Amino acid sequence: MLSQADNDTLTQVGPGTTMGELMRQYWIPAIMSSELEGPDSDPVRVRLLGEDLIAFRDTNGSVGIVDNYCPHRRASLFFGRNEESGLRCVYHGWKFDVNGDCVDMPSEPAESNFKDKVKIKAYRCEERNGIVWTYMGPRETPPALSNLEANMRPDRDYTVSTILRNCNWMQALEGDIDTAHLGFLHLGSADPKALVPGSTDYYTVNVRHPKYNVMDTDYGVTYAAFRPAEEDSTYWRFANYLLPFYTQIPTGKLGLMVRFRAWVPIDDTHTMFWSVNATAPEVQGGGRRTDKNGKLVGGSAGQTDYLPNQTGWLGRWNLAADAGNDYKIDREAQKKNEIYTGITGIFLQDQAVTESMGAIGDRSQEHLGTSDSMIIKSRRRALNAARALQEGITPPGVDDPKVFSVRTGDVILPKGVDWLEGTAHLREAFVEHPQLMPKS
Ligand code: FES
Ligand SMILES: [Fe+2]
Repeated sequence: MLSQADNDTLTQVGPGTTMGELMRQYWIPAIMSSELEGPDSDPVRVRLLGEDLIAFRDTNGSVGIVDNYCPHRRASLFFGRNEESGLRCVYHGWKFDVNGDCVDMPSEPAESNFKDKVKIKAYRCEERNGIVWTYMGPRETPPALSNLEANMRPDRDYTVSTILRNCNWMQALEGDIDTAHLGFLHLGSADPKALVPGSTDYYTVNVRHPKYNVMDTDYGVTYAAFRPAEEDSTYWRFANYLLPFYTQIPTGKLGLMVRFRAWVPIDDTHTMFWSVNATAPEVQGGGRRTDKNGKLVGGSAGQTDYLPNQTGWLGRWNLAADAGNDYKIDREAQKKNEIYTGITGIFLQDQAVTESMGAIGDRSQEHLGTSDSMIIKSRRRALNAARALQEGITPPGVDDPKVFSVRTGDVILPKGVDWLEGTAHLREAFVEHPQLMPKS
């Protein structure tokens, strides 16, 4: 559990808040490049860390992220005309470029120099492999982008996708670092006898109460959940929390999984989930979630069905199954234990339970057990880094982007092998392990 004060600090992300200031020290994934078709894209409403912003791609292909409100009389620049290298407010024609400079002020006499005195808030942007990153922090010269491997492998087939979640960022993130729920929420209806002996799902449902090693690192926190595999071996699942809002989940072979997820706060009660994956295609899937006959474990199928995007602040990347229709729960399938939750789709199952806690869960009412040790440590790491920043201490990795070059996944190790020493070479990013690739 957390005190109410700690919970407030953890969950509030607006300008001037303790956690919000921590997040503003890092570059932030703002919008997918594909959402700003250029040149002169339609302006898009993007709320980030509680700030209402307008994103656009100008005539030269550069991306701008500026304040929603025109500095003249505060009309919204969403309605602006994106033309000739700038966004022009339709109220009186003031025009701003991607740097926030006012480049035209036709409502004032030609001899006036008022335009040189007016700027609009504009955040720096950088595009890297399909993601527009923005820096909302205080530095004149921003730090480098974090070295997150999955966004740095243009040599790979590469996917980026986003989904809106209707709850606080940390509540959503905690689902990624809570391996115990896999055996229930996602695999609760799986019978170990029906699964492939020696498969990782088999070990997972055989022992649904793993033990944990958890440790602070220079990028955040890592853990490995472990349970017996065979007589002489142990099954390990490694996952990471990386500051300020990233995770790397444990599913898939350690050493081969190249991916990260981000839980970017839209505001205190809404989060944009990002999945960035550059894992080699022959490694993806890998027969997981299937029984001996190759049949999928109930509920683990299901494409992510989106509603059509709309232009509102919360209009992008909403799922069709949501709290309003109880995530399309099938009580019959739940009753018959065909699908443990009755909800179809791994992501949707996570979405349902984390949103069901309320927009900001009351952590003062929790009862945390040993399976929550990673969550406890990760909350503490975020809070400590945020409070240290208030004392002037630069947060982890801001000036050392290489610390984020890590991987996670699962691995079976001989009994007695040290979890860290035995996997160091597999947890490093930008390393190839051809010997681990599946034989075709
Ligand atoms: S309010 Fe934007 S130009 Fe007047
Ligand atoms: Fe999950």
